[in-house]
Amino acid sequence: MPDELVNLTIDDVPVSVPKGTLVIEAAKQAGVLVPHYCYHPGLPVAGVCRMCLVEIEKQPKLAIACATQAAEGMVVKTQSAAAKSARTGVLEFLLINHPLDCPICDQAGECELQDFTFQEGRAGTRYSPDYPKRFNPVEDFGPDVLYVPNRCILCTRCVRFMEDVAQEPVLNVSERGDRAFIGVHPEARLDHPWAGNVVDLCPVGSLLSKDFLHKARAWELDKAASVCTGCSQGCNVTLDTRDDIVVRVRPRSNLEVNRYFICDHGRMNYRWMNRGDRIEAPLVKRGGELHATDWQDAFERVTTVLRGAGGRVVALVSPRASTEALFFARELFRAGGRGLEWTGAFQVVMGEEAPLPGVPDLALRAERAPNGRGAELLGYGREYAAALAAAESAAVVLVLDEPDIPVRTAGTLIYVGTVLPERARDAEVVLPIANVAEEDGTFVNRDGRVQRYAQAKPAPGMARPGWWVFSELSAALGQGDPVASAAEAFARVAQTLEPFRGLSYEQLGFTGKPAAAAPVPA
Ligand code: SF4
Ligand code: SF4
Ligand code: FES
Repeated sequence: MPDELVNLTIDDVPVSVPKGTLVIEAAKQAGVLVPHYCYHPGLPVAGVCRMCLVEIEKQPKLAIACATQAAEGMVVKTQSAAAKSARTGVLEFLLINHPLDCPICDQAGECELQDFTFQEGRAGTRYSPDYPKRFNPVEDFGPDVLYVPNRCILCTRCVRFMEDVAQEPVLNVSERGDRAFIGVHPEARLDHPWAGNVVDLCPVGSLLSKDFLHKARAWELDKAASVCTGCSQGCNVTLDTRDDIVVRVRPRSNLEVNRYFICDHGRMNYRWMNRGDRIEAPLVKRGGELHATDWQDAFERVTTVLRGAGGRVVALVSPRASTEALFFARELFRAGGRGLEWTGAFQVVMGEEAPLPGVPDLALRAERAPNGRGAELLGYGREYAAALAAAESAAVVLVLDEPDIPVRTAGTLIYVGTVLPERARDAEVVLPIANVAEEDGTFVNRDGRVQRYAQAKPAPGMARPGWWVFSELSAALGQGDPVASAAEAFARVAQTLEPFRGLSYEQLGFTGKPAAAAPVPA
């Protein structure tokens, strides 16, 4: 049954919202951001900061927009003189003890206290410059969290996250009044597998990530929408880069997958994206040694091998590869009447599952790879050991960014990857490809949701996306035209394979869509 709607106006903009919607959320529909600190859509409402005061016609007192439900005929004014003056007062109180830290604070440039003070705070303080501000030393809360109490505005977002979402209540508000601060349980640490979210939730620079400390100022960062590669959950993330180096991973909200959160495993899973020991040029074997060459020469070598091959071909692929690369890697051996018998397999590193109890269906999954489901939909199997054994008698073995390579086999090894494992030195041809931060592509998560990720930095040297490499090779073998973009590569997937039918990059947007008929795994 459709939700019952109520009609109201916010700053003279009429909106209709489902009954029960909070005024602060209804305001977003009217294009109005009501200043706020304690409110967060992923946490229970606390109503403690009073920053979201607004005027509602026919109500004698100002109301907090985060705890007031929209009602039929309501007239909300966020910019009335009374509302603005009340919020300016709240800011003045918050700043009494807040240090003038912005020049050295990691949060500067993405701090809500800075933003709202700039927007509607007083131009100057009424306190004497000699007023001694409260001082408490910095505390080490856990493996990746520092607490700077002087900057804390006691919004309690961190306390509520640990209590209601992580359901491990190790934080509290200790003391009262202007002596209050966030305390950590004397016998506990902030080391829950999802604890890093308190850093994102903190609206000021009071909770800081040790990993990101002093790495960059907010305005130096470039941002790209991506998907976490840490497990099969497929959490939506933003990759922050500084000078083409990934320096931070943060959650990107997707109500269908990860709401507003990511786990610490995913948050820290980015250093490999910056590896310096990359393959930067195609390599071909000459005189028993690998030598750098150009793409054309390398492609000719591969097509010569494939044209001359008969019998069994084995593809050993990484479940971190994009759907597009996996598709074209398969196309290389499909059809064409060359009489090749194709086997494709992947293996996944497994780990411990770690749920976030307050959010249904959200967990760090045991399967630590982002695209196992995609590989399955494309026809790759999980019998890796059998495929390895089959590789020993195969005419050609194609390895796609998988370090577990068979020892020198009867057949010809073609290695396509980001780095060169020792055994890949046996390859006839080595082709360099981009990693997830260096290309556009899609993954399919464990629930069959197809999600796009975007390029965050350039690939090194001559490395190109996997889909480009395999589509060029397919075209060289006479199997259709090559594709020029990831979107085109995906369109080819959608034309060919039933689960992807009807989907396109445009439709997927950056929150994804379920693949048709992709059964949810048991
Ligand atoms: S540490 Fe940050 S999130 Fe926690 S109460 Fe203080 S300001 Fe709020
Ligand atoms: S749950 Fe999985 S996908 Fe989500 S952040 Fe953690 S590792 Fe990444
Ligand atoms: S955001 Fe409404 S009281 Fe804090």
